[in-house]
Amino acid sequence: MLKRAAITGIMGYLPDDVLTNSELEKLVDTNDEWIRTRTGIEERRILRKKGWASSDMGAEAVRGLLKKTGTSPDEIDLLICATVTADLIFPDNANTICDKAGIHNAFGFDINAACSGFLYSLTTGAKFIESGMCKKVIVVGADFMSSIIDYTDRATCVLFGDGAGAVLLEQSEDDTGIIDSSFGGDGSGRAFLHMKAGGSLRPATVETVMNREHFVYQEGRSVFKYAVRGMAESIGLVMNRNNLTADNLNWVVPHQANLRIINSVASLAGVPMDRVMINIHKYGNTTSGTLPLCLWDYESQLKKGDNLILVAFGGGFTWGATYIKWAYNGS
Ligand code: COA
Repeated sequence: MLKRAAITGIMGYLPDDVLTNSELEKLVDTNDEWIRTRTGIEERRILRKKGWASSDMGAEAVRGLLKKTGTSPDEIDLLICATVTADLIFPDNANTICDKAGIHNAFGFDINAACSGFLYSLTTGAKFIESGMCKKVIVVGADFMSSIIDYTDRATCVLFGDGAGAVLLEQSEDDTGIIDSSFGGDGSGRAFLHMKAGGSLRPATVETVMNREHFVYQEGRSVFKYAVRGMAESIGLVMNRNNLTADNLNWVVPHQANLRIINSVASLAGVPMDRVMINIHKYGNTTSGTLPLCLWDYESQLKKGDNLILVAFGGGFTWGATYIKWAYNGS
């Protein structure tokens, strides 16, 4: 019988510095009321440690995860890092994180699927466990969004924050674990959410820097519509094919991009909001960090056997949902 992969530990890392809505009022023409009502965000964390990048946040989460789960760094076979803000265009963050966390027997690679990156990485990591190729896999989501945000653009700078989360995957001994995923993609969506320069299409020049083309560009209203549709469709699909209903689904764990998107998706799925994990008010959209940071925040409320659906939408466009039967009591 196929052995499932189960999450057996979670850890998060958030920078200490807090950027509140009232501080943003001093940078751009916005106000606390608009940000709260249109997005649900009250504050976000910003990485200001000199010399630190996304891999340092990821390495902090990984070191904490190893300690918390009593795992030796030498036991890790594979580390996957989801990120759109790797320290460098190459090499990857995963191997840098392994180096910084003292993991020496593993191979690693990054996955770039924007805000769906953690979910795609989780399923990828699970396949390495299911196949028997790996025994212990760490999946990290780490993004230093403030490094690619234009703090003169009010349409994007209020939305994002920095942070990282990591989970340990091991073979499940019972029927718990990662059970099913449904993913979708639509490359035509790149028009609505991208970074204009810095890649091979438009390498950095004085002109691209002067034109502020190395920041997140987003047409929010269009992204909003696609996000609701993509997340609602994939959550519906995964619920149907696993006989999940609003009655037997314990938690929805949504990507935290906008509280109004989360409300719409929950309502379309028929799931009451008290069973939807939310921390967007504290951290904003941390891209690859949102899902592991939600699981980390709610870990003490999770019980073995709980049915969870993780659901995400991101640039690409990319989207999807994953059904997990939770493997341990969190408290
Ligand atoms: N403060 C005040 N006003 C703002 C503002 C801000 N920070 N940002 C935009 N506005 C203004 C706009 O300029 C516009 O003004 P106008 O009507 O005079 O032109 C008005 O608010 C409405 O703009 P709109 O873009 O239609 O707002 P919205 O209700 O769609 O909210 C987002 C904007 C970005 C919050 C929302 O579209 C969103 O969350 N989109 C999806 C984001 C997402 O999921 N991204 C990541 C995918 S992972």
